[in-house]
Amino acid sequence: MTDPARADADDGADVDIEAAEMIASLREQVAYHNHRYHALDDPEIADGDFDLLVREVRRLEGEHPELATDDSPSEDVGGAPSATFTPVRHAVPMTSLDNAMNDPELTAWGERLLKSLGGDMPSVVCELKIDGLAVSVRYEQGRMVQAATRGDGRVGEDVTANVRTIADVPDRLPSGAFGGDVPGVFEVRGEVYMSTSAFERLNEAAAAAEERLFVNPRNSAAGSLRQKDAAVTARRQLSFWAYQLGDVQGGPTLASHHESLDVLGAAGFPVNPNIVVLDDLSTVVERCAYWQEHRHDLDYEIDGVVIKVDDLAIRARLGATSRAPRWAIAFKFPPEERTTVLHDIQVSVGRTGRATPFAVLEPVFVGGSTVGLATLHNEDQVAAKDVRPGDTVIVRKAGDVIPEVVGPMITARAAGARPWRFPTTCPCALASTLVRLEGEADTRCVEPACPVQRDQRLIHFASRGGLDIEGLGERTVAQLTGAGLVEDAADIYSLTVDELLTLDGFGQVSATKLLDAIDASRHSSLPRLLVALGIKHLGPTAAWALASAFGSLDAVMSTGEEGLAEVDGIGPTIAASIDAWFSLESNRGFIEKLRAAEVDFRGEAASGAADDDVEQVLEGRSVVVTGTLAGFSRDEAAAAIVARGGKSPGSVSAKTYAVVAGDGPGASKITQAERHGVRVLDEAGFERLLQTGEL
Ligand code: IVH
Repeated sequence: MTDPARADADDGADVDIEAAEMIASLREQVAYHNHRYHALDDPEIADGDFDLLVREVRRLEGEHPELATDDSPSEDVGGAPSATFTPVRHAVPMTSLDNAMNDPELTAWGERLLKSLGGDMPSVVCELKIDGLAVSVRYEQGRMVQAATRGDGRVGEDVTANVRTIADVPDRLPSGAFGGDVPGVFEVRGEVYMSTSAFERLNEAAAAAEERLFVNPRNSAAGSLRQKDAAVTARRQLSFWAYQLGDVQGGPTLASHHESLDVLGAAGFPVNPNIVVLDDLSTVVERCAYWQEHRHDLDYEIDGVVIKVDDLAIRARLGATSRAPRWAIAFKFPPEERTTVLHDIQVSVGRTGRATPFAVLEPVFVGGSTVGLATLHNEDQVAAKDVRPGDTVIVRKAGDVIPEVVGPMITARAAGARPWRFPTTCPCALASTLVRLEGEADTRCVEPACPVQRDQRLIHFASRGGLDIEGLGERTVAQLTGAGLVEDAADIYSLTVDELLTLDGFGQVSATKLLDAIDASRHSSLPRLLVALGIKHLGPTAAWALASAFGSLDAVMSTGEEGLAEVDGIGPTIAASIDAWFSLESNRGFIEKLRAAEVDFRGEAASGAADDDVEQVLEGRSVVVTGTLAGFSRDEAAAAIVARGGKSPGSVSAKTYAVVAGDGPGASKITQAERHGVRVLDEAGFERLLQTGEL
């Protein structure tokens, strides 16, 4: 039988027509997106999706070698230079790197090295893979004469005037760095990038000017560097890490990559501090895993780790393929950004009536989980991002951070896509009016009887942060209110087994278990009870402060706004919000129902609040904890600091008293500590600090 997808080509070779068409289509897409990314700085898909496309082409080319061509875009290392900039031919090509997407691919690279060298594993240098754009800066007789982008690897673009505005890139080379005369030609290659903090500042300014936001630091760096007017580049706060030499004529003889990095450092170029020389592959794999986990400790984005053979003579023996050197590999982290379709924008209403828009997305696997929904915060955020139903959008999920819609791919937008408008009615059964007050960012449902708000209040009351009633989640709450068994949280205390048995899915055992959990919640702690009430702005820290200052719910309730604001840790906004909440007749009625249900209003203050029995040796002091400690979880360490009158914020500033560094500390915290002259303590130092308050 003949396979209809297979036909004999003229040269007699078997060609799989389906595969040929697939490769042709994918190559077209790769070429298109390559151009958008490199030449236009205006990508339509996220980097992670582009990588997947290229890998698919390569996979098919591997399976069908007869279809591989020399000019496949999968061999391209970038875009052709644009007409805006003068072309520059690189004296030494700026090649790309092969990628390893996981440990087995990294190990396979190591094994290929061993095999072709026929001996021991050579030492390798592990560097961070900075997510910016590569440039080559050329010095002649010690003076910077030219800077160029990578372009297609052979010909780049002249961005000399723009690179001159980057403070990190020196204009002249100091002769002292070379142990003699400066080399006649010295080409420095590295990554121009925008730090995360500079990117955030840029976007804050864009938001204030009601301009379109930049999608990520890499795109902003590329867009900022490739400006016709270098004065614009100068305003953008770009930075530079040097990581490679290009054309070098004269100067000292270098035998290894790490020596060249030393020379670069001595010549005044920023060389990333997180560079190590390693001797075996398993340590390399560990290093990659370490940075994958800690990538967000840095104030710049990295998308992988680059591993390079250190010995330059061995490099020469290994050589290169048409695309990339054999002596290096990029271990790529799983993408934290993917492109997907925004099907719709809907609104959900919370316990305080706040109506929050959220994105309904075509589910996409990003940052380690599948994301189908993402918050859009409020009306202004939707407008600032200008996301419209039907758009292709970038979705970002970094580590434990909540998934975020970064922005639309404008160029992929369908003609006629309309800006989204905030709905005018609440999605609840009453379809009450949504209002946005002048000067406020939030839109609210102000209907006191709104059933969505009622359910949300109940869910919050029973949630982990509230009275932590196991088994009383969203579904059960909906069943209880739907059946008319419960109107507010106080009603749960009079529920009976027989009532629960009328609900779907409840049996004797589950009903009894839920009632036991409800019963136990009568004797939770005062801070939890305060949080459970769902008062705007009143979170666990403020609740601890109130509980330890007043000792009972009645005392909190009878203290006016001014008295509340006198408590350390209670600002005027929280004080006003608490006061307003307790002034409402309906809320007072609710409190009385809780009292009648015998809920304990004097429950103990949870551990973690400043504790009068412990000497307040850290009074008013900030101690930042980073990394893993053997004897304390993060929460325990923070609680121990708070119990001694201190604070334990997440970032280091000049006001920080000490930084406690456990295993795997955040590099940026340590750098900040050094910058501000803050003492860094180990665990023993921390224990001493807790006892004495002394450093
Ligand atoms: S070395 C032949 N080192 O990654 C070696 N590249 O995918 C050339 N990159 O074009 C590059 N950090 O833009 C090297 N520490 C690093 C890097 C790095 C980021 C980028 C660079 C390069 C691309 C290759």
